[in-house]
Amino acid sequence: MGKNQIRVAWQAPSNIALVKYWGKHPGQIPANASLSFSLDECTTKTTIEAEKVPFSDFPRLQFFFEGKEKPEFLPKIENFFRAVFPEMPWLKSYALRISSENTFPHSSGIASSASAFAALALCITELEEKVLDIKHGGFFRIASHRARLGSGSAARSVYGGISVWGKHPMTVGSSQSFAVPVTDEIHEVFRGITDTILLIDRETKSVSSTAGHALMVGHPYAEMRFKRAAENLAELQTILRSGEVDDFFSLIEEEALGLHALMMSSQPNYILMRPNTVAAIERIRNTRKEENLAVGFTLDAGANVHVIALSADEQKVKSFVESELKPLCPDGLYICDRIGEGPKPF
Ligand code: PMV
Repeated sequence: MGKNQIRVAWQAPSNIALVKYWGKHPGQIPANASLSFSLDECTTKTTIEAEKVPFSDFPRLQFFFEGKEKPEFLPKIENFFRAVFPEMPWLKSYALRISSENTFPHSSGIASSASAFAALALCITELEEKVLDIKHGGFFRIASHRARLGSGSAARSVYGGISVWGKHPMTVGSSQSFAVPVTDEIHEVFRGITDTILLIDRETKSVSSTAGHALMVGHPYAEMRFKRAAENLAELQTILRSGEVDDFFSLIEEEALGLHALMMSSQPNYILMRPNTVAAIERIRNTRKEENLAVGFTLDAGANVHVIALSADEQKVKSFVESELKPLCPDGLYICDRIGEGPKPF
């Protein structure tokens, strides 16, 4: 690399929300606080090679995905850079070559925006340290705030373990503009929590999350939802400390079905679940009841089912997934993941 070139590289995880963020105010400010855990296997790896160039109104950006130049992704990335320019004016004196790859399969129906914008935000925050020759106190908080400007849920992907984004009275230091890690003592039953993602529908969703958030403006149940999310977040934090497994599954499943109920009652209304989404939910619930297994589910804004299990029953849940849930996935595809340790430079 030349003397005027700087390289930074970060790997950042995807995350799965247990209390969902759905609905936002201008500037990517969440309508309610959310809680998620970061995954271990599903990550985005991003490298930026930056070269000093004469100042221009917009930096020269090149974007490569899995080795191929992808100009079609640039508009989203340019929007992100427009949002961070006011606090990072030095960026306009750099040409950036951004290369990214995901560790999860193409067309899996898994949104990669959380891991992608977290990795990008971590890269530019480290680049800033190098360019300006400074050290940020609160490096991850700053990266979280920047990641949020790309995709709301990305704010939570700059940490490992459990994190909360959005102001909430029970989470010390919580903020509307960045996520914070949950450092409370988590009961041992919830350590090593696993997420098996059933790839029930690998098509692009018929209604994007951006459109879904927008439909919360004027939604008939919006105010009730935001109040309920705050209550659920308080309760979930108590459950995570006390180790109440039944209450845990009851709460996360209410959140998942509540998210989809909001979609089904918006104007226009829409359904992202597929018949096999419902079939998987029923099998999971029956097995929890009949076999007393610590297994439940959550859903993202799509048809895939996230099978959430506690490490005590990991092996039994693995065979349950293989025999009962795999047949519901076209091509028998699912991803085994678990709570992860968070982003790392590489
Ligand atoms: O970050 P966005 O704008 O893609 O929205 C994410 C919304 C959910 O994934 C459905 C919930 C969440 O909190 O992650």
